[in-house]
Amino acid sequence: MNMKIAFVGKGGSGKTTLSSLFIRHLAATGAPVIAVDADINQHLGPALGLDEAEAAALPALGERLSLIKEYLRGTNPRIASAAEMIKTTPPGEGSRLLRVREDNPVYDACARPVELDGDVVRLMVTGPFTDADLGVACYHSKTGAVELCLNHLVDGQGEYVVVDMTAGSDSFASGMFTRFDITFLVAEPTRKGVSVYRQYKEYARDFGVVLKVVGNKVQGQDDLDFLRAEVGDDLLVTVGHSDWVRALEKGRPPRFALLEDVNRRALHRLRTAADATYDLRDGQRYTQQMVHFHLKNAQAWGNERTGADLAAQIDPSFVLGESTVAAV
Ligand SMILES: Nc1ncnc2c1ncn2[C@@H]1O[C@H](COP(=O)(O)OP(=O)(O)O)[C@@H](O)[C@H]1O
Ligand SMILES: [Mg+2]
Repeated sequence: MNMKIAFVGKGGSGKTTLSSLFIRHLAATGAPVIAVDADINQHLGPALGLDEAEAAALPALGERLSLIKEYLRGTNPRIASAAEMIKTTPPGEGSRLLRVREDNPVYDACARPVELDGDVVRLMVTGPFTDADLGVACYHSKTGAVELCLNHLVDGQGEYVVVDMTAGSDSFASGMFTRFDITFLVAEPTRKGVSVYRQYKEYARDFGVVLKVVGNKVQGQDDLDFLRAEVGDDLLVTVGHSDWVRALEKGRPPRFALLEDVNRRALHRLRTAADATYDLRDGQRYTQQMVHFHLKNAQAWGNERTGADLAAQIDPSFVLGESTVAAV
C-alpha cells in the first residue's frame, strides 16, 4: 500500500526531526519512500544528513511548476493548457499519474536521491518561502506543487510518501490537509502545542482526516498527563529527548541502528498506525474532496486568474485509486 503521511505542528515542535526519523525507519525496512519538505523552514534535507551545499543544490518544486503541470496534464482534453491548471486541478482521463517507484520527468526534475545508511529515498523540496509567499491566501505555488503531485499519485504496494509540512492556514485554504491517509500532529506538552492540535482538529472534522498526536520532548509523567488530558485518545505516542538526534544536530549522525530503543518503538507505533488506515481508504471520497477544493479555489480566485471556467476541468467519471488505469 502506498501511504500518504503528513507531519504537522507548530514551528519548533519537532516535525522535521520526527519526519526524518520516520523516513529513516521506513527506509531501513527497505520500503520505497518519497520524502517531501513542504515546511516554511526547509530543514528536511539536513535532517536526512545532507550538508549545506547539498541541501542548497536541491531543485525547488515551486520553481518547476510549469514542468509539473505540463507533464501531469498529459492529453487530458479538459485542461487546455498548463497555464489553466491550478494547484487543485484534478486528474481526469488523459492525465498522467505518478507512482512512487517509477522514473518520470517530474522526479528527474524535482527529486534527488538521498542515501541513508545504504538505503536510498527520494527527496523533493518546495524550496524556501519568501515574504512574498506568505499571507497570500490564493496563490501558494510552492505547496501547490505538492498538492498537485499528491492528487496525481496512485497507489502501489508497500510505498510511502512522507510530507513535512506547516500547520498554518496555508494547508486549509487548499485541500492539502485532506490529502493524507494519516496526519501526525507533533506537539510539545505546552498550551501552544495543544492549540495547534485543536485548530487542526476543527478543520479536519468534516473531511474524515485521520489525526494522531505525537507528543515530542516529553519528559516525565507530568508532561504525559498534560497531553493525555488535553488531547485524549488522539495521543498516539510520545517521544522524549533523543541523544541520537542531538548528535545528528552536531553534524555527527550515528548509524540509525543506534537510535534509542524507546524511540525506535515509537517509530514502529507510527508505522503501525499509518498502515492501519489502509482499510479506511476510499478513492471515491478522495477524488470528491479534490473536486470540492478545486471548485472552491476556482471560485475564490482561479477562474478570475486564468480567465477560464475551471469547473469544466472536472472529469465526472474519474476516480483516483489502485485500479485507475493511466492513459498515456
Ligand atoms: N526528540 C528530540 N530530541 C532531541 N532534540 C529534538 C527532538 N525533537 C526536536 N529536537 C530539536 O528541536 C529543534 C526543533 O526541531 P524541528 O524538528 O526542527 O522542529 P520543526 O520542524 O517542527 O520546526 C531541533 O533543533 C531538533 O533537533
Ligand atoms: Mg521543520
